[in-house]
Amino acid sequence: MSVTLDTGYLAPYVREEEFGAIFPQVQAAHNMLHARSGPGSDFLGWLDLPRDYDKTEFLRIKQAAAGIRANSDILVVIGIGGSYLGGRAVIEAVKGAQVNLNPKGSPQVFFAGASVSPAQMTDLEALCENRDFSVNIISKSGTTTEPAVAFRVMRALLERKYGKEGAKARIYATTDKARGTLKKLSDEEGYQSFVVPDDVGGRYSVLTAVGLLPLAVAGVDIDALMGGAAKAREDLAVCSPENPCYRWAAARNILYRKGKTVEVMASFEPDFALMNEWYKQLFGESEGKDQKGIFPASVVYTTDLHSMGQYMQDGGRFVFETVVEVAAPRSDVVIAAEAEDFDGLNYLAGKTMSHVNRMAMQGTILAHTDGGVPVMVLKTPSLREADLGYLLYFYEKACAISGYLLAVNPFDQPGVESYKKNMFALLGKPGFEEAGKQLKARLNTD
Ligand code: PA5
Repeated sequence: MSVTLDTGYLAPYVREEEFGAIFPQVQAAHNMLHARSGPGSDFLGWLDLPRDYDKTEFLRIKQAAAGIRANSDILVVIGIGGSYLGGRAVIEAVKGAQVNLNPKGSPQVFFAGASVSPAQMTDLEALCENRDFSVNIISKSGTTTEPAVAFRVMRALLERKYGKEGAKARIYATTDKARGTLKKLSDEEGYQSFVVPDDVGGRYSVLTAVGLLPLAVAGVDIDALMGGAAKAREDLAVCSPENPCYRWAAARNILYRKGKTVEVMASFEPDFALMNEWYKQLFGESEGKDQKGIFPASVVYTTDLHSMGQYMQDGGRFVFETVVEVAAPRSDVVIAAEAEDFDGLNYLAGKTMSHVNRMAMQGTILAHTDGGVPVMVLKTPSLREADLGYLLYFYEKACAISGYLLAVNPFDQPGVESYKKNMFALLGKPGFEEAGKQLKARLNTD
């Protein structure tokens, strides 16, 4: 298996018998998932997607990406939540978090619409003003306010630069196959469009056009990514206590039931920071409901050892930690010897930075274990496309099984609607006038 799980450090906190005791529940969750009989079973398209994905659409994605790569210096991807995080996370993991500073022949890919920050919008407009750019607007519902606002701004800029017809040829819409404002608009305007399948929810959509078009534009090998996910689909379909994905889901729930209510996903690779954000969305939106759920948090070490490290070592003992270990970094640096050992680092001469990073990781795992934090280690050979595709699927399946162990529906997100209703009411959206009056009366502003 490409991804493995080391639970050896859990020994002081979880006995092996506890894994045995929870396994019948894991089996029940597995059966429910594969029989498509559990809560949210209308949203299980992701389960077989690495095998059953639409091959014609996949080809269209590659062709569109080739067109964008040929005529654009920048692709602006507009979306929020599941409609942007996966794509951005994979680009940064494979190509590096600084990829836009040195895109090596690929267009720069910038993301917008994941906030309503006027400052960021202005900066992006300025970046695109004198460069050739295209836009990929992504919204499954087609009605989400943040991306809709960003799209208005970027569409207006496209039209100013390229004229109305020229702009249309530079807009790519990824949305529902039949419904929603965005679908209607793209049909009317003739934008090239791609489909978010009905049975794939936003946070499980990274391996659809949602993630694949931005990835292909950025020069990520999407064939290898899908291949890795397909391998994971096969490996992780086996319901056994050794299945690392199921063991992780089991461990999370054993710990949660013991009062460890926060999982900290820790990585020693800054390029993984957005993968951590994707993990937080996947697990937070899937599990946090019905007044329960493991709170997903994340850190990037060693950076955060100098901030959150104190808390992790010595703070409230309601956390457990899952460390992602990347065996082979994208590149490495050998530490040179100096004739004069002015900084006292000659004891590291000839060693690689990845070796130092590994020692930091091992030291941290042991320190946190001693400090009362249950630690698990998820190991991946690399962050190259095939391994990352495997990891994406691994997380998705672990999340589904873990959600069923928690007895929640891992595929809905009813809580996300509450802020939207209030925002519409406060903004004066037609139909929300009365609610707006009531909310304004409760605010401490004039
Ligand atoms: O996981 C989810 O379903 C959400 O995070 C959505 O992806 C997010 O709210 C964006 O929705 P939409 O694609 O409909 O604009």
